[in-house]
Amino acid sequence: MEHYVIKGGNALSGEVEIAGAKNAALAILAASIMTNETVTVENVPDVSDIRAILKVIATIGAHVEQIDRHTFRINGSAIKKGEPVDNELVREIRGSYYLIGSLLGKYGKAAVALPGGCNIGLRPIDQHIKGFRALGADVRLVSPGMVVAEAEELTAAHIYMDVVSVGATINVMMAAVKAHGYTIIENAAREPHVVDLANFLNSMGAKIKGAGTDVIRIRGVEYLHGTNYSIIPDQIEAGTFMFAAAATKGDITIKNVIPKHLESISAKLTEVGCQIRESGDAVRVVANRRLLHTNVKTLPYPGFPTDMQPQITVLLGLCKGISIVTESIFENRFKYVDELTKMGASITVEGNTAIIDGVEKYTGANMDSPDLRAGAALVIAALAAEGDSEIYKIHYIERGYEDFPEKLRHLGAEIRKVDDENQRRRFQYRIS
Ligand code: UD1
Repeated sequence: MEHYVIKGGNALSGEVEIAGAKNAALAILAASIMTNETVTVENVPDVSDIRAILKVIATIGAHVEQIDRHTFRINGSAIKKGEPVDNELVREIRGSYYLIGSLLGKYGKAAVALPGGCNIGLRPIDQHIKGFRALGADVRLVSPGMVVAEAEELTAAHIYMDVVSVGATINVMMAAVKAHGYTIIENAAREPHVVDLANFLNSMGAKIKGAGTDVIRIRGVEYLHGTNYSIIPDQIEAGTFMFAAAATKGDITIKNVIPKHLESISAKLTEVGCQIRESGDAVRVVANRRLLHTNVKTLPYPGFPTDMQPQITVLLGLCKGISIVTESIFENRFKYVDELTKMGASITVEGNTAIIDGVEKYTGANMDSPDLRAGAALVIAALAAEGDSEIYKIHYIERGYEDFPEKLRHLGAEIRKVDDENQRRRFQYRIS
């Protein structure tokens, strides 16, 4: 079975280039079929979730042409109205539910299988449905696990989201772009990928204002046209490398980032004693001593991201003193703590709070990655640990990190993806 073998203990140093944002790409690729003209999307990350959404849109009739590793030309003119979107891939990736918003907006009808994604909590879609209904759509859940949304004509509405939801904001924004009149979404999510999708849609002729604030205003348009667009850098991939620098007492310059998107992460790293230097599109993180405890609570953007919660917990597990991490977005996001305990971490989880008593060091262990971000966090723990670790179920990590072992090796890590015992032995022999 494919897994990572890691020999910990090296301080990571050097430069790393960040890929395009996976979560922005999922939304933008789903929206790219809303026009019958050709759309070119650059800086698309080469990760399995994105390969999956590209296959899904190709399966329903879009023409998808790969220009280079990170650039795709997409034409959605051959997609048929109302065609059910359902196969194994659709159900695997969470982002496939963006096809409800995009197909409903384009054709007035969408039939899409319910989403999968990481098992980090209940993840309901009531706010998406509420928004579609407010725009005049009839939305039904039909078995087995399909959402069917249709409208004679979408009409603008004043929508108040009951919770701040990235997915619902994105989905409703896509449908509203083609609704007649002036839609207002209140209590909207402000995440960078919401803004990136709005910029993308505007480059196709949509009229969206206020993305990045909690009130988004959309003047519906009849027609969307082709565009060329480059996706923003991945804030979470960047943050993961920032924590890898801190946990290994390293010195990493993270390039091709938007430092503004990383402020909540930089602030926490500064609090625990790292030096952060921002310059243009790069952030350098230097940690040359044992770091100090702090508290953190996950919040919607611009708060500390839930997708960085496992990574900061891994770091705080090595910081001097007692730290408290509170998870306020998803209810089931501390499953990785059992794995971390195998490495010697001292962490107690009570409900949505982890109480962390920092230890001097972790020791290598064999672990399963429970989901995408927790998997990446366990890799950081293994890199910081004394001794060897093996991390299994790495397909989760590959959903969202492009060339993760290669990028880490370039920074001086001893990590190898192996898929049989011979490869594992060869790697361990070489580095011992
Ligand atoms: C997106 C990201 C995910 C990130 C999360 C929060 C993608 C593909 N995934 O997930 O990586 O962890 O944002 O930043 O972009 N909720 C409801 N009803 C709804 C929708 C959401 O109650 O209809 C709740 C959820 O259960 C959760 C909270 O709202 O407690 C936030 O979820 P949401 O922002 O929608 O997360 P996703 O879009 O699924």
